[in-house]
Amino acid sequence: MVQGKWFAPGSDLSALLPVREAVFGRGADALDALSWNTLVYEDSVPAATGRIWWEDGAFRLGDLAVLEERRRRRLGDLVLRLLLFKAQSHAAREVRLRCPRDLTGFFERLGLRPQPSGSGDADIVEMMIPGDQIDLDTCKNCPKASCPNRT
Ligand SMILES: CC(C)(COP(=O)(O)OP(=O)(O)OC[C@H]1O[C@@H](n2cnc3c(N)ncnc32)[C@H](O)[C@@H]1OP(=O)(O)O)[C@@H](O)C(=O)NCCC(=O)NCCS
Repeated sequence: MVQGKWFAPGSDLSALLPVREAVFGRGADALDALSWNTLVYEDSVPAATGRIWWEDGAFRLGDLAVLEERRRRRLGDLVLRLLLFKAQSHAAREVRLRCPRDLTGFFERLGLRPQPSGSGDADIVEMMIPGDQIDLDTCKNCPKASCPNRT
């Protein structure tokens, strides 16, 4: 079973920090006091995490991480959807993140688009989606014609 849990700014993050540490090699930092963190459990095991915070007029997503041995099972997709839903439910004007260039495709699936870079680092891409374009409809591209949800 897959379950998601939210941690408000200032919460005890001991349940999710091992995931962040395993993937990025770093633990808690000052940004956690300003962030909503989410943790996704797979069969009661902490497996994926990410966070969202407000910065310079936009919501920012970051530190989206899935344990290596649990990747490609849609846990990353779930974390991204949870974070975008949090932004949407706070009427975000725009949502931004920085990601490695080879991950842009993962974020583009949910509508984020590369922005002109100001970072000076060619391997890092700034991605953005206007809040009113966030679309979390998982059924949108489903080819099933006979789904009871549609009839
Ligand atoms: C990026 C990451 C979170 C993806 O997590 P994941 O659980 O493996 O991804 P999912 O299984 O949810 O993938 C969902 C979809 O994205 C696609 N996808 C996954 N990784 C991708 C990538 N690197 N590039 C393009 N598409 C990707 C999957 O094929 C899947 O597509 P589908 O809907 O057609 O089946 C994970 O690889 C990770 O933790 N990477 C290291 C940490 C990192 O760099 N985080 C980003 C920091 S901003």
